Amino acid sequence: MPSIKILPDWTRAAEAREYSMAMHVLGIDIGGSGIKGAPVDVTTGRLLADRQKIETPHPALPDPVADVVKQLATAFSWSGPVGITFPGVVTDGVTRTAANLDPAWIGLDAGSLFGKAAGNHVRVLNDADAAGMAEMKFGAGVGEQGTVLMLTFGTGIGSALFTEGILVPNTEFGHIEIRGRDAESRASERAKELDDLTWGKWAGRVDEYLRHMEALLSPHLIIVGGGISKQSEKWVPRLTGIRARIVPAAMLNDAGIVGAAMAGAG
Ligand code: BGC
Repeated sequence: MPSIKILPDWTRAAEAREYSMAMHVLGIDIGGSGIKGAPVDVTTGRLLADRQKIETPHPALPDPVADVVKQLATAFSWSGPVGITFPGVVTDGVTRTAANLDPAWIGLDAGSLFGKAAGNHVRVLNDADAAGMAEMKFGAGVGEQGTVLMLTFGTGIGSALFTEGILVPNTEFGHIEIRGRDAESRASERAKELDDLTWGKWAGRVDEYLRHMEALLSPHLIIVGGGISKQSEKWVPRLTGIRARIVPAAMLNDAGIVGAAMAGAG
């Protein structure tokens, strides 16, 4: 005869909370060149299948991008919850800025658009916030209680700020002004390519940028991410003007997907 376990009320409440959090979530990371997705086990941060990448449509208008979201959901035969990153400010599912995407995104209810495309509930969040959440839970920021600044260097510069592990969303520190220009137009990975900078010259710009950030926020730890963090040995040792510890992101390409899935879970 099966034994019946009577749980005290507080245990039942805790279990109910756990069950209402999805464990397997499709994470989708929208970037300037590619849109990547994979199902993720949000309790371990592991991808449950190889990620798939589809080229970002050009121009990256909302409907063609939503179509890619649909293709990814179909590719994984996905009917569960979904989390999606966006390279701009996102509040309550509405995309508020689009520095490196088409202005058609500004003021758009992306949560509803993607929800229709994916056929399920979708959470949308800023791309750097997603990468930061993943690094704090499973990567370079595990156990860090102080102020942590995560910066992603790519087409733009994304930022995510944590204290005691809690995120302040949509910080947009890539747009502080340095030498009269948007910081990301001087120190992003794209700026390195466009201005044809050596590692030394570019690291000098990043160092100057980080000194500004350090003066404003005094972080204990700075995590540097984005594609260029794969070559961190070429530039991180040159960042000598900073007091804070600087470490490369640990999750590299998967941070956005995993962070998207974490947001989609709860
Ligand atoms: C956007 C941020 C984004 C970053 C990285 C910036 O231009 O304003 O929202 O996180 O690029 O994609």
